[in-house]
Amino acid sequence: MTEKTYLRVKGGSPLCGTYNVHGAKNAVLPMLAASVMTEDEVTVTDCPYISDVDDMTEVLRALGVAVSRRGRDVTVSGKPTLTEIPPHLACAMRSSVFMLGALLAETGEVRLFTPGGCRIGARPLDIHFDGFRRLGACVEYGEDYVLCRAEKLTGADVILKYPSVGATENLIMAAVKAEGRTRLIGAAREPEIVSLVRLLVKMGADIAGEGTPVITVNGVRELEGAVCAPVADRIVTGTVMAAVAVAGGRVELNGADASCLGAVISPFLSSHTYLVEHGGVLVFESDRVLAATDVVTGPYPLFPTDMQAPFMACQCYASGMSSMRETVFEDRFAHVAELRKMGADIALAGNTAFVDGSRGMKGAVMHAADLRGGAGLLVAALGAEGESFIDGLRYLDRGYENIERIMSNLGGKVVRESGSLPE
Ligand code: EPZ
Repeated sequence: MTEKTYLRVKGGSPLCGTYNVHGAKNAVLPMLAASVMTEDEVTVTDCPYISDVDDMTEVLRALGVAVSRRGRDVTVSGKPTLTEIPPHLACAMRSSVFMLGALLAETGEVRLFTPGGCRIGARPLDIHFDGFRRLGACVEYGEDYVLCRAEKLTGADVILKYPSVGATENLIMAAVKAEGRTRLIGAAREPEIVSLVRLLVKMGADIAGEGTPVITVNGVRELEGAVCAPVADRIVTGTVMAAVAVAGGRVELNGADASCLGAVISPFLSSHTYLVEHGGVLVFESDRVLAATDVVTGPYPLFPTDMQAPFMACQCYASGMSSMRETVFEDRFAHVAELRKMGADIALAGNTAFVDGSRGMKGAVMHAADLRGGAGLLVAALGAEGESFIDGLRYLDRGYENIERIMSNLGGKVVRESGSLPE
């Protein structure tokens, strides 16, 4: 019997209390990547204790820069002496992709092995590569690597065929020191990109239009050190809200940034929930009476794909038929088979899931296959009758700080155990 680490969840306990929302993983990662663009000290504050941040700091150290951590503040200094991302790290997570733009801008060369990360579709990088070429780089790639080189980067208009978050971030970083003006047309608008730009501007970059579909970057010669906080994590905020929705209770989310939570919050409001925001505290309450809700994911400001699985768990408890259409990734329903083990009535038709929540859910043994899918399983287990067991915690630990502690501090019966999983 193989030793496993898993969550043991006993459903049915209401969640009450306060949760302090930390900085967004998907802001911290590109911000840390940008830090190599100056040898001065760059500090990103409020970084979460998650493995993606640990891996990113390992990538930075492997490139030859100094990285130190004091509490939630991560400080980077020095110039990169290498231009190849270590394969074992590039395979650990998708975020190593964010080094492409920063290293290309800083050293004129970067080699990356096919990045790992969650299995949620093909996740090509053609928009990144096309953009680099538009800025004057040579890009060659094989089965499992990509090599980008540029004697000099020159500003240009770059049209993105899709508002890719990572491509927008990489192209901003590649353009920051390019000669002349770059306009990214059709850029992604996510709040995490706004955080990256806020840091780069503090470092001396000349960027405008972040958060809109057209971002303009005027190249500068040098950047200097800075200190910057990331936007609060809207996906962790939404995940805690989903847990309260299915388990019932009342939570105060300290530090939640309501200005970027519109699409996350709106599907919860059609149920018997109560929500108020004052002074950076979001109060969310639910009596577990959930209404069937149709949701479509999309690029910001639409409902985020990263909330798809956690909210589908809510749909499993809503009386009536809900639909969940996933338009961002072509293969992001791995959690459906696991939810069906709990008795969920979910039919899949192409990129849409139809969820009938009237049957009730029972605890089951489930396997997380990706970060947000795993979060969805935990949310579902918190509202179910009986005990559930969830393994695949290496995925959850990529994006949630001790997720069992998040929920148990609010009264949820969740513990992390090691041993052999029940059959
Ligand atoms: C970022 O991934 C996030 N990761 C993802 O969060 C998030 O789900 C995604 O944006 C969408 O919001 C980080 O920020 C570290 P994309 P990214 O490029 O940049 C296609 C999580 O759970 N595409 O916006 O990789 C792609 O295949 C993670 O925290 C191309 O076709 O996402 C996908 O279908 C999961 N060509 C769509 O665009 C490209 O060159 C969106 O991808 C690039 C992307």
